Amino acid sequence: MKMIQSKLGIKILKNENYRTDTLPEFLSESAVSHIRKFHETLPGYRATPLLRLDSLAVKLGVKHIYVKDESKRFGLNAFKGLGGIYAVTRILCRELGLDINRISFSDLQTPEIKNKIKEIVFITATDGNHGRGVAWAASQYGCKSYIYMTKGTAQSRVDAIKAVGAEDVVVTDMNYDDTVRLAAKLADENGWKLTQDTAWEGYEEIPAWITQGYTTMGAELLDQLRLDGITKPTHLFLQAGVGSYAGSILGYFANRFGGTPPVTTIVEPVNVACIFESALAGDGKPHAVPGIQETIMAGLNCGEPCLTTWAILRDLSSFYAACPDFVTAKGMRTLANPLGNDPKIISGESGAVGLGLLALLMEQEDLAEVRKMMGYDENAVILLISTEGDTDPVNYYDVIYNGKCPVE
Ligand SMILES: Cc1ncc(COP(=O)(O)O)c(C=O)c1O
Repeated sequence: MKMIQSKLGIKILKNENYRTDTLPEFLSESAVSHIRKFHETLPGYRATPLLRLDSLAVKLGVKHIYVKDESKRFGLNAFKGLGGIYAVTRILCRELGLDINRISFSDLQTPEIKNKIKEIVFITATDGNHGRGVAWAASQYGCKSYIYMTKGTAQSRVDAIKAVGAEDVVVTDMNYDDTVRLAAKLADENGWKLTQDTAWEGYEEIPAWITQGYTTMGAELLDQLRLDGITKPTHLFLQAGVGSYAGSILGYFANRFGGTPPVTTIVEPVNVACIFESALAGDGKPHAVPGIQETIMAGLNCGEPCLTTWAILRDLSSFYAACPDFVTAKGMRTLANPLGNDPKIISGESGAVGLGLLALLMEQEDLAEVRKMMGYDENAVILLISTEGDTDPVNYYDVIYNGKCPVE
């Protein structure tokens, strides 16, 4: 496959093997419509805002830029709770012999049910947001959760997970993928429910539920766009760690748009770009990026693709991008300093990389050919999801106010 590297070190890869003949059935509307209905029964549920950045669109030379602000999700400052609460609920329904297709949050709040589930323990590994989502979900039902975190985790992330009710939060000296293996082992040894947002051979059912849980974002998005007169955006940026979130939205959109999703770019940190590297390898298989990697994009610092969603990203993405940290820093600053009457969006390191990439694609002279190839012009209607707010406030401050990670 043809890879292009910009002067600044951004890498772009075009998917030469794009194919839409098989769509992921588990992300079809009929498979997931009950999930949005369930989410709507949760206390504090409301669709997160979809914001239009008109002045920025004019400045960059595109038609529209839409950003969905997931910092407003359930008070968790990130989207991940959508998958966590759905998977936890589905696990509980299975234990109780209840039909997930008909369940509402209040059905599981009776004293009788609470008594039956109070000994169930959940465990997961996380670089922050997913663990917060699982701890929050478990505590909604009065269940315990143990959360294992990666080396170098910011204290604010540990505190945020404790604040939503985790029984214990343990920071390991391992990377994300090894922390996942540790959590899986502890789950096995103790009979705890591993609620992990990535899949491997032999562990695929629960990650598929988590992936399905994220589709509520996609469903909200299409309703919100329609209210603004748009049936389908032309372009979509999806950031990836293991790729569950990106696979969820892309797979759901591919189903909703009859096999022709928007032109989608999967965006990752350059030194831990496992989806990019897997696509580049070109053998159709997922490949790992081993070792402990440094990036400010903590939520995207994952070296092994999720097995369940890899095929979706392999077949239905149009482009893959691997970005140095300054790309997301530029995105964070751009969203924090709106032009004209555009709204301000507080977007964290893993939330803003798509917007930073869009801005650089439109501004950098040496990327003119690339932006033409990708179809970014005055007709482009671009959709981005800011998947988190300032989940690491210290780093957020450094980026926005101290100019950390300048474009160079
Ligand atoms: C804020 C944020 N955005 C995006 C992602 C990427 O999700 P995934 O690991 O499913 O690719 C994560 C993962 O933790 C995240 O926390």
